[in-house]
Amino acid sequence: MFESVAVVGATGAVGTIILKLLEQRDFPAKQFTFLASARSAGSTLKFKDEDYTVKELTKDCFAGIELVIASTPDDTAAEFLPAAIQAGAKVIDESGYFRMKPDVALVVPEINPDAALNAKGIISSPNCSTTQMVLALKPLHDAATVKRVVVSTYQATSGAGLQGNRDLEAGSRAHLAGETYEYKAFAHPIAFNAIPQIGSHKEAGYTSEEMKMVYETRKILGDDSIQISATCVRIPVSNCHSEVIMVETERPVSPEEARDLFSNFPGLTVVDDLGNGVYPMPSTCDGSDETFIGRIRKDISHPNGLTFWCVSDNLRKGAATNAVQIAELLAKHR
Ligand SMILES: NC(=O)c1ccc[n+]([C@@H]2O[C@H](COP(=O)([O-])OP(=O)(O)OC[C@H]3O[C@@H](n4cnc5c(N)ncnc54)[C@H](OP(=O)(O)O)[C@@H]3O)[C@@H](O)[C@H]2O)c1
Repeated sequence: MFESVAVVGATGAVGTIILKLLEQRDFPAKQFTFLASARSAGSTLKFKDEDYTVKELTKDCFAGIELVIASTPDDTAAEFLPAAIQAGAKVIDESGYFRMKPDVALVVPEINPDAALNAKGIISSPNCSTTQMVLALKPLHDAATVKRVVVSTYQATSGAGLQGNRDLEAGSRAHLAGETYEYKAFAHPIAFNAIPQIGSHKEAGYTSEEMKMVYETRKILGDDSIQISATCVRIPVSNCHSEVIMVETERPVSPEEARDLFSNFPGLTVVDDLGNGVYPMPSTCDGSDETFIGRIRKDISHPNGLTFWCVSDNLRKGAATNAVQIAELLAKHR
């Protein structure tokens, strides 16, 4: 039980789901505070049938707060979250700013809960495209040691926050009406298009989003030897990221064994019946806290290769659900 919890970025795409989850899962806390920028300060949020006024995030707003769950842009997290730690709060952060710092725990509760329990400072939640992939890799890695991964993502517009979905809707309407629309969250039109760049150019022709999948996966699995090549693509789907994941393991893993490993791992659900046209899709996974796997097959191009399709709600397990699960873990072990 926590006395007092603050949700930072409570008005955003992720923050809104965090509120829903805290309410639905009856998170054990006595007092809640909801924070956002000066733009939303003074607006009202409904939580557990009560009206709460959104307060402005400042460096001195953390007095008396025991737990902070934050989902803001990186620069906001960098500026304000150290003040929360200084004020004595536990901090769970969705942003990318702290994740790879050596003293920061990067946590998926099904995989490395101890990292959260032993954390001295900020606990980061991984990038959404990493979380679903690492959940799928973990049982394979434990059983047969993952050596190499080639992953291609098909990422939803909600991954770019509330503005991402506003752009998808308004851009699609404009496109159908033969009008122009000025996109704010994307550098190119996303309606009726696919954009093979998420994040900025980072290194060796890869983007920042792609390199997050490399470094974050190694950190969470505690194995720097895993070779990963990612291509991240934004597609005109409003919610749920999809991924084609091709894995090379130390010994061959048959599709039947993989199905068993996935089915027995917490948070994973196998939906796989190609003959009957049954597999996970964004439209069927939207709103679920599970990560779904289908199209499981032997990679016919490699003796130790396995290929599958993985879909997860990026706002839920890719962000809010993961953060709330970490918070529940901390509450349970207080
Ligand atoms: N969307 C995803 O699928 C996803 C998945 C994993 C991680 N993340 C990460 O989670 C974070 C939030 O993403 P989002 O998709 O929820 O974005 P979003 O919809 O744009 O929401 C951003 C939130 O941050 C607040 N904020 C922005 N600038 C602020 C400032 N200067 N001071 C205080 N609050 C400020 C906004 O408040 P206002 O309403 O006042 O503007 C809003 O509540 C990002 O770091 C993102 O990379 C997102």
